[in-house]
Amino acid sequence: MSKPVLFSGIQPSGDLMIGNYIGSIKNWVKLQDDYECLFSLVNMHAITVEQSPEALAKRSLDFVALYLASGIDPAKSTVFIQSHVPEHAELAWILNCSTYMGELNRMTQFKDKSQKHEHNINAGLFNYPVLMAADILLYQTALVPVGADQKQHLELTRDLAHRFNNRFERDLFKVPEPFIAEAIAGGRIMSLQDPTSKMSKSDSNKNNFIGLLDDPKTILKKCKKAMTDSGDVIEYDIDNKPGVSNLLTIYSVISGKPVSEVIKHFEGKMYGHLKVELGELIVDYLAPIQQRFYEIREDESHLKGILKHGAERAREQAQKTLQDVQKSIGFVLP
Ligand code: TYM
Repeated sequence: MSKPVLFSGIQPSGDLMIGNYIGSIKNWVKLQDDYECLFSLVNMHAITVEQSPEALAKRSLDFVALYLASGIDPAKSTVFIQSHVPEHAELAWILNCSTYMGELNRMTQFKDKSQKHEHNINAGLFNYPVLMAADILLYQTALVPVGADQKQHLELTRDLAHRFNNRFERDLFKVPEPFIAEAIAGGRIMSLQDPTSKMSKSDSNKNNFIGLLDDPKTILKKCKKAMTDSGDVIEYDIDNKPGVSNLLTIYSVISGKPVSEVIKHFEGKMYGHLKVELGELIVDYLAPIQQRFYEIREDESHLKGILKHGAERAREQAQKTLQDVQKSIGFVLP
């Protein structure tokens, strides 16, 4: 029996940071033995906002190297760059023709991003969730590990799968399930300086996040500067103490200890203790990942070889699904 398929991806925008790691990569590593996994670097999504070409190219390879350094094993999992598999764009077009403007208008990420990039509200930004649906549906994906911010896109993906299955062929697409890290309350790690909004890798204020490649001094500094709340008792209370609660969540996930145990550990201590210890914990946790990253990144031809092989493997399945879809909707195959 073949394993169920798992698909996930990250956009090469900004600096890969601890929120992405906790919300997705950490789960990828955990799930990689139980699923047939595909991990994509979704560069076609990234160009929905303006990117510097040089930075985009460099960052794409950096991110893939970070996938591997974090424990993704290319011998087990398929690792590839989205634009290397043209079927993503082809299926996205077909899905676009059955997606309603009203559905896309409701997407909160579109609303947020249009506010942030008001000089560049392009059609790609609007259609972004359809491309994401294509990514997922092309591989007959069962499970999609993501942070809670992607849940709405997953719901649209499921709606589209049902729509095509009802209209054309019952088993055309597998209907995927989201996998949202249950260890994080609300499924999101929050910004260090503004714990009421989510941590984001493309935040212009880098003090808001801890980059996976930040050096120890920077990590310690960012943790020390993290915004905490009034009062001085270290307790978990999202509504009244969002800052402390966020730090406790990060501490808990990185240490692998439940929040209750972390709170006990800090009993009678001050916020400052939590910040210092959290910084040290993250430094130690990231050190081996960073070391592997620099080793992997040094050998670019090896990295590109992994990506070439990954794209070939991904394409086999992608072509099959696309052909089935084309046949079902009445496209004459060559
Ligand atoms: P992206 O690139 O913004 O983020 C990558 C992953 O990190 C998660 N994430 C977070 N998790 C917890 N706390 C946070 N503060 C946080 N910030 C980000 C995201 O939920 C995501 O899982 N549209 C996707 C990329 C994508 C994709 C896909 C994902 C494209 N196609 C198909 C899964 C399947 C995105 O923009 O993620």
